[in-house]
Amino acid sequence: MKTPLSRRRFLSSSSAAGLAATTAALGSAVAADKAKKNNSLKILGVSCSPRKGMTTAKAVQAALDAARAVNPSVQVELLDLGGLDIAGWRGENQPEDDFTPLLPKFRDPTLGGLIIGSPCYFRSMSSLTKCFLERLAPLRKPEMVLANKPAGVVSVGAFRNGGQELTIQQIHCVLLCYGMLPVGGHSPAFQGATLHSENDSIAEDELGLETASQLGKRIAEIALLPTGAAKNTDH
Ligand SMILES: Cc1cc2nc3c(=O)[nH]c(=O)nc-3n(C[C@H](O)[C@H](O)[C@H](O)COP(=O)(O)O)c2cc1C
Repeated sequence: MKTPLSRRRFLSSSSAAGLAATTAALGSAVAADKAKKNNSLKILGVSCSPRKGMTTAKAVQAALDAARAVNPSVQVELLDLGGLDIAGWRGENQPEDDFTPLLPKFRDPTLGGLIIGSPCYFRSMSSLTKCFLERLAPLRKPEMVLANKPAGVVSVGAFRNGGQELTIQQIHCVLLCYGMLPVGGHSPAFQGATLHSENDSIAEDELGLETASQLGKRIAEIALLPTGAAKNTDH
């Protein structure tokens, strides 16, 4: 028979769970501050176009270059998921695939922030972006590993107004579920980096490349801030 849930029982069980989660979150915050002091802060860029090394990867790299220029302690790495075999979330017994060895990179205590790049596919994120975001799910329990880290989004489309901002917005919503801090860049990149590719090139898109730089710069600046007192321990 189910025990009726009294207010006292609810408060005692949720406070125990909350305490455990808070302790875990504090642990990761301490690790993050230590990494900053040791001059080892990493910004990870993830390109989620199925086409390796194409415009999305180049745009994410432009953002990473600007992030690195902010401070000598900032290290950057581009993870180009193009050409990899990455399935969406399949439950607790997830079959191994190309993402399995990449997951630990997101547990790295020196990880200061993320820059995620997606091509616009039908005014939306690519299926590879969605699969990647779902595969981060093990980082939500028992600890919100990515909580309070800044994350920005780069989106590339073949049209000037091809849905880049919609794509960014969708990815921001997912990032909120990880307790991350979705941020835009400095002007003119308030929502994120929006690029226009022409003939599979972004080289001529000066404004778009400027948004990528301004996003990378702001992500690094926020990642370098001392970790605040507010901790996200919700699941
Ligand atoms: C299935 C598909 C749907 C697309 N839909 C859009 C779209 O809605 N808006 C847009 O601007 N470009 C669209 N494109 C173009 C891509 O966003 C564009 O070519 C982008 O640069 C691809 O990124 P990549 O070079 O990194 O592969 C689409 C391309 C494909 C293959």
